[in-house]
Amino acid sequence: MLVIIAVFLAAVLLFRTKSLEPYYLVTNTDLLAPGTTSNPKPTIRFYASSFQFNSTSVPQRYPVSPIHQLPSGPLKHSRLHRVQHSFPHYQHDPATKARQDAVRAAFVRSWDSYKEHAWLWDELAPVSGQGKNTFGGWAATLVDSLDTLWIMDLREDFYLAAAAAAQLDWANTTETAVNLFETTIRHLGGLLGAYDLSGEKALLEKATELGDMLYMAFDTPNRLPGFWLDFEKAKQGVQVAGSNDPAAAPCSLSLEFTRLAQLTGDSKYFDAVSRVTDFLEQAQGASKLPGMWPKLINFRDERVDAEIGFTLGALSDSLYEYLPKMALLLDGQAPRYENMYRTAAGVIKTHILFRPMLPDTDSHNDILFAGDAYVHADRIDHVSEGQHLSCFAGGMFGLGGKLFDIPDHVAIGERLARGCGWAYDAFPAGMMPEIFNMMACDSLDGPCPWDEHRWQKHGDQQLKKGVVNARDPRYILRPEAIESLFLLYRMTGKEDLRDVAWRMFQDIMANTQTPFANSAIANVTVHGETEKLDSMESFWMSETLKYFYLMFSPPDLISLDEFVFNTEAHPFRQAAP
Ligand SMILES: *[C@@H]1O[C@H](CO)[C@@H](O)[C@H](O)[C@H]1NC(C)=O
Ligand SMILES: *[C@@H]1O[C@H](CO)[C@@H](O)[C@H](O)[C@H]1NC(C)=O
Ligand SMILES: *[C@@H]1O[C@H](CO)[C@@H](O)[C@H](O)[C@H]1NC(C)=O
Repeated sequence: MLVIIAVFLAAVLLFRTKSLEPYYLVTNTDLLAPGTTSNPKPTIRFYASSFQFNSTSVPQRYPVSPIHQLPSGPLKHSRLHRVQHSFPHYQHDPATKARQDAVRAAFVRSWDSYKEHAWLWDELAPVSGQGKNTFGGWAATLVDSLDTLWIMDLREDFYLAAAAAAQLDWANTTETAVNLFETTIRHLGGLLGAYDLSGEKALLEKATELGDMLYMAFDTPNRLPGFWLDFEKAKQGVQVAGSNDPAAAPCSLSLEFTRLAQLTGDSKYFDAVSRVTDFLEQAQGASKLPGMWPKLINFRDERVDAEIGFTLGALSDSLYEYLPKMALLLDGQAPRYENMYRTAAGVIKTHILFRPMLPDTDSHNDILFAGDAYVHADRIDHVSEGQHLSCFAGGMFGLGGKLFDIPDHVAIGERLARGCGWAYDAFPAGMMPEIFNMMACDSLDGPCPWDEHRWQKHGDQQLKKGVVNARDPRYILRPEAIESLFLLYRMTGKEDLRDVAWRMFQDIMANTQTPFANSAIANVTVHGETEKLDSMESFWMSETLKYFYLMFSPPDLISLDEFVFNTEAHPFRQAAP
């Protein structure tokens, strides 16, 4: 009887709150554990988009059959090795807890400002305190922040944001085309990560709706997607792959579409990205630097032999990052990802990584960076130019090294991660610039005596010895340095990496705080007050603060043996036990 009354009351409540509240705020009393009535877990409802532009409503011009099936069946004994250090005696001491709290407070401050001044906009402009749309107007910051809210245990705000995300309307945009890569890593990745943590079904439904729309981008003659999903072109069936597109754009959609396939049981999403992998696999040996893929690729004609530039930085980065991550997400059941990673890593070691030449007095001189290579007819130019974007490479080598049991790669990963930490300290503001040049040693190991004469001749004498210039001196709240330091901390258990991270965090806070939140800054080489730019990209709350927070959290929070991060720091649950 009591139960019936409770159900009746719940039904009344459900009805009433629904009509009062545009979002959800339905109290589902069934789900309440005793004693939690003051903080009820609301039910998140999925609202379908007003116009669904997808593979059901618009026929495919180039349908595929048969589709590549997700590797499935009983899991074979995984050949992959554990990733995370075991931390047998871990204690969450008060000093680390205080650091963790400081990061959480920074997040809450940015989030509260977004909520108050830019709710449902893509970004908060952190100097002027207004909203702006930069990615189609689908609340990029909100979707990108969902899993961070969950991880930081900000549950009330998580449910508020999740309810808003579950009623995003993909038809509600002023744009005529979608940036396929950005929408996949931020929105699709954000919804999947939040679903994997919370189990909220509406988030998976919203992700599926989006994934099905983005799937339309693969409807080209060779099934390789273009950079933009142009709605009109897709409807008319006239899409083609790009003839000069960034390598990373079509080649790092694999993790998100594979996770969507795993969660929905619909292999067509896996099929879409596995055809891009087919292309990558056959093209790997055909470039001017066999083993690597060039920065720009002619996907339309499936050619990689025109471009001479190779990098782990802008245009290419997550293509490489996703190779070991796909091996992990597929539990080692698709060996080609490991093979491509091993081949690429060998060439990267020879042609891309460099060791900076530093004064012998610099106690941190066993570090590495990732630069660029340009292949000419008669020579290969190695450019010792570091980028903030290429700082992810430490985590990539660490992961590849751990998963495939290559200790040398873990060591390289650590030297790369420490290099990025060093570069924060090397500039007056305490942050690494977007792009900077250094003097390089002849080899990655062995002696590398300091050459003062060369430094006097080439270096900017205002900068730290060894740094030649800061070609792009902005710091735009990017995550890649803390990402790699966090991953290497979790892989090696070396506590001093946390101190490096704490210094970075303090410098970022000291230089980027605005009355509302945190902003990009114009010039990290300036001493004293630095110019603030009116930009706070969604990765600040999705990635940078998440990685700082996890760095100072107990290691079982988002264990690297349970989750794999997409390139926007959204944690996907590993399918295997
Ligand atoms: C469309 O999106 C804007 C934000 O970009 C939002 O303010 C508006 O309420 C949305 N409209 C509908 C009908 O969802
Ligand atoms: C595709 O759109 C149709 C209506 O146009 C809708 O019924 C269906 O659920 C959509 N499919 C997905 C996967 O969202
Ligand atoms: C950055 O600051 C330095 C030192 O004040 C200055 O020399 C340089 O021109 C600035 N660069 C840019 C791009 O503003």
